[in-house]
Amino acid sequence: MEETITIRRPDDFHVHFREGGILSAVAPLTADHFNRALAMPNTTDPIRTGEDAVQYRDQIRKAARNELFEPLMTIKITDGTTPAVIVKAKECGVIAGKAYPVGVTTNAQEGVSDFKKLAPIFSMMQDVGMVLSLHGEISNRFVSVFKKEVKFLPTLKWLVDTFPTLKIVFEHVSTKEAVYEVSMMPDTVAATVTVHHLFLTTDDVLGSYILPHNFCKPIPKTAEDREVIRDAVIQGSGKFFFGSDSAPHVKMRKECGSGAAGIFSAPVVLASLAQFFDEHNHMERFEDFVSRFGAEFYGLPLNTETVALSKSKWVIPEEYDSIVPFMANEKLLWKVVKQ
Ligand code: DOR
Ligand code: ZN
Repeated sequence: MEETITIRRPDDFHVHFREGGILSAVAPLTADHFNRALAMPNTTDPIRTGEDAVQYRDQIRKAARNELFEPLMTIKITDGTTPAVIVKAKECGVIAGKAYPVGVTTNAQEGVSDFKKLAPIFSMMQDVGMVLSLHGEISNRFVSVFKKEVKFLPTLKWLVDTFPTLKIVFEHVSTKEAVYEVSMMPDTVAATVTVHHLFLTTDDVLGSYILPHNFCKPIPKTAEDREVIRDAVIQGSGKFFFGSDSAPHVKMRKECGSGAAGIFSAPVVLASLAQFFDEHNHMERFEDFVSRFGAEFYGLPLNTETVALSKSKWVIPEEYDSIVPFMANEKLLWKVVKQ
């Protein structure tokens, strides 16, 4: 008999849906497996205000072609954000503000140049109950990509000390230092974990060959870092929950002289997580990680629908509409069978 598992329908607390043709191609793939997903605001024309977020939410809903699916909205926090923008965005249903240090990643040219100068913004977010979502890498170009996350930790500490009731998510945690730091901080602080940071190390990006489809920010680090991230997830602490950071770029933008950072993982994340928990003999932790901890942190009701997976092999397609997915052409042992 084939082994199957049914879990509460999950949420993905970090997705890049993009715009236009890419949005239409990728939104259904997240909506097929997840009930809700937190939409990142770093579109070409950024989501800066509540009004932008409402429009973008409608575009994602349409593209998702699935009535069960609910996009959760963010705005981009930049040097130009004002306290009034935060108040209005909250009224429009925006649940988080995403702060990218200027220039650290895709479409972060307009970002935060000095966190301390934005104290009135964080204070207003704290007052209205909006989550601060952080790309935790410093933008100083003289600091190596391997150190950028660790060097951001003093900023995280400052935020936590200065705004004690502000909820903060340290996105796509990639180093052991950041895992330790988040673990020790109060319950107002949590981290998202991606599938690719559970699976990859730097060698999978630029070991024997340059593998552009594994290139992302923050760059996957050492096997030791990966082990600490894996342990945090396996131990089942509510401070570490799922956010895929699925970040599609068309093949041409990845396989070229200046390839974009971002891993398109939406079609494979749920199955690969099942495989991860199975291989580590902790299948019982799977559901909390994808369907409970994130919702609880954000204060959202738990989903009531379910999704089922079975232990049956499939080969991941080479492309989805000119976008190469994570683990393309590789075999996975688990498969989503009932959406
Ligand atoms: O690799 C990444 N790609 N990291 C990010 O933080 C942004 C994302 C994107 O938008 O492509
Ligand atoms: Zn991201």
